[in-house]
Amino acid sequence: ERLSAAGRPLLSWYHQNRRILPWRENPEPYRVWISEIMLQQTRVEAVKPYFDRFMEALPGVKALGEVSEDRLLKLWEGLGYYSRARNLKKAAELLVEKYGGKLPSSYEELKALPGIGSYTAGAIASIAFEIPVPAVDGNVLRVISRLTGSMEDITKQSVKKDMEELIKGVMPREDPGSYNQALIEVGAIVCVPNGAPLCGSCPLFSLCVARQKDLTGIIPVKAPK
Ligand code: ADE
Repeated sequence: ERLSAAGRPLLSWYHQNRRILPWRENPEPYRVWISEIMLQQTRVEAVKPYFDRFMEALPGVKALGEVSEDRLLKLWEGLGYYSRARNLKKAAELLVEKYGGKLPSSYEELKALPGIGSYTAGAIASIAFEIPVPAVDGNVLRVISRLTGSMEDITKQSVKKDMEELIKGVMPREDPGSYNQALIEVGAIVCVPNGAPLCGSCPLFSLCVARQKDLTGIIPVKAPK
């Protein structure tokens, strides 16, 4: 259906419109991991300088595992959600102990690490290891809900799970990292929240149910907590 038809236009749009970002230049596992953790609760523009400083100070898993908590929190200062930094260090120690200081390449092993949930595991596996698994964050929930015209409550875990299954079934086996980042990127710069998406520049314009039915102000549906 709509989602399988979206793959080609998404990828070709992404190759023409993607932003040049530090972690995209050299998508090795450690860099993808750190960037995705930073990007979880912080905007791209704010992350950039932190990411560059972090890579310079702690260029790999070993350095991260050995850093003092003080120094780590200094590097993180201003990003907020400090448990993210503590989990990074915990995971790095574990990686040194159990995996020879490298990130494992399977989705399941990644997801078992501290601070890594289904989104981050999918992002690392697909972007750094080219494994075709989905990476569904808030951007992707919004884009696909609008594309398919889904009125489901996107705050429900079950809705996210269903979407992961749906994407898994149709995503390309080739370059899954670009596919996932294309969905994220469309959500971040075109299919923006709050009823004012830039549908005129969207690669999914002609496929999108919410656009066709004028429901972009209503979808995605979020039940009040
Ligand atoms: N937000 C989360 N992951 C991202 C990525 N890889 N690129 C840009 N924005 C993101």
